[in-house]
Amino acid sequence: MELRRIGVFTSGGDAPGMNACVRAVVRTAYTFDLDVIGIRRGYEGMIEGDFVEMDPQSVSNILQKGGTLLKSARSERFRTPEGRARAAEQLRKFGIDGLVGIGGDGTLRGAAIFYEEHGIPIVGCPGTIDNDLFGTDETIGYDTALNTAIENIDRIRDTADAHNRLFLVEVMGRDAGFIALNSGIGGGAELVLIPETFTEMDKVKKRIHSLMSAQSRSSIVVVAEGDELGGAAKIANALRADPRFERIDLRVCILGHTQRGGAPTARDRVLASRLGAAAVEALVEGHTNVMVGIINNEIKLTPTRNVWQRKKTINYELLKLTDLLS
Ligand code: F6P
Repeated sequence: MELRRIGVFTSGGDAPGMNACVRAVVRTAYTFDLDVIGIRRGYEGMIEGDFVEMDPQSVSNILQKGGTLLKSARSERFRTPEGRARAAEQLRKFGIDGLVGIGGDGTLRGAAIFYEEHGIPIVGCPGTIDNDLFGTDETIGYDTALNTAIENIDRIRDTADAHNRLFLVEVMGRDAGFIALNSGIGGGAELVLIPETFTEMDKVKKRIHSLMSAQSRSSIVVVAEGDELGGAAKIANALRADPRFERIDLRVCILGHTQRGGAPTARDRVLASRLGAAAVEALVEGHTNVMVGIINNEIKLTPTRNVWQRKKTINYELLKLTDLLS
C-alpha cells in the first residue's frame, strides 16, 4: 500500500532528544511528499483523536529543547483491546496510513500488539533515558541523562568531601543499571548498585564500612532506583539502623526527574536526527513492526518484539572497573 499520510507520536517517559527526532521525522517525510500528523500525548491522544497537522516549519527551533512538543503519556486505555480499536478507528478517520512511535519498551510493546491487531504499519524509534532496549547501542535521551547524573555527582562530591560524608545517590533506571554504572565510573563512585546483579545487604554494609573507616574522606554510592535492595532511602535506613554506622555521617540524594529534563547533548541530537530520518525511510520502504536503532554506527532494523523479549546486557567489565578504581 502506498503511504500518503503518517502520524508521529512520543509516548511513555519523555527523553531529551525526542523533539530532535520528531523534527527529523517531519522533515524527512516531506522529502517523500508525505503529509505528517502529530499525535499529542502518545497513545492516549491517539485514542482521543488529539491530532495536529505538521509541516517543516512547525518543527523549527525544537531540536535543542528537552521535553516533547507533542507531549507524552502512559496510557492505561491503550492496554485494552477496546482502547486500541478506538485508536485504530481514529487513525483511519484521519487517513493516517503509517506511524512512527518514539518511546521506550512500553511504547514498543504497544506498537507490536497494535500492528498485529489492526495492521497499520508502524516503525519505532528508541526513546528512553534508561537505555534498556535491545537493538540499539544507545537510546535517545540516555547520553543526556548520563551527563546530567555525572554533573550532579560532581557537585555532590564537593560537599561530601568538605564534610567527609557518605552519600547514597539514586539515579533512574527502573529495570536497568546503565545510567548507574556509567555515571558511577564517570563520577568516580566508590560503589555502584544495579538491578542486573544480586545485591547482598551485608556485603554492601561491609564494603561501605571499610571505605569509610579506612580513610577520612567522602564516599559516594550510586544506586539505581530499580536495585532489589529498594533504592537509596531504604538502604540508608538499613545503614542507620546498624550500630556500626553510628558515627558515619550519611546523606541521601535522589536525582529523580532532573535526569529526564534539559537540552539534549550533541550525541543525543545526532542520534535522534539519524533515527527519525531512518524511521521514515523504513516506513517508505515497506518495513513495519520494527524498531530503528544504531549498532556500531550503522542503522539497523530489529523486529519490535525482540526489542523487549531479548535483554540488552550491561558490560560486566565496567562493574569490575568500579571496584578496581575505588
Ligand atoms: O522509563 C524512564 C523512566 O525515567 C524510568 O527510569 C523511571 O523509573 C520512570 O521513567 C519514571 O516514570 P514516571 O515519570 O512516569 O514516574
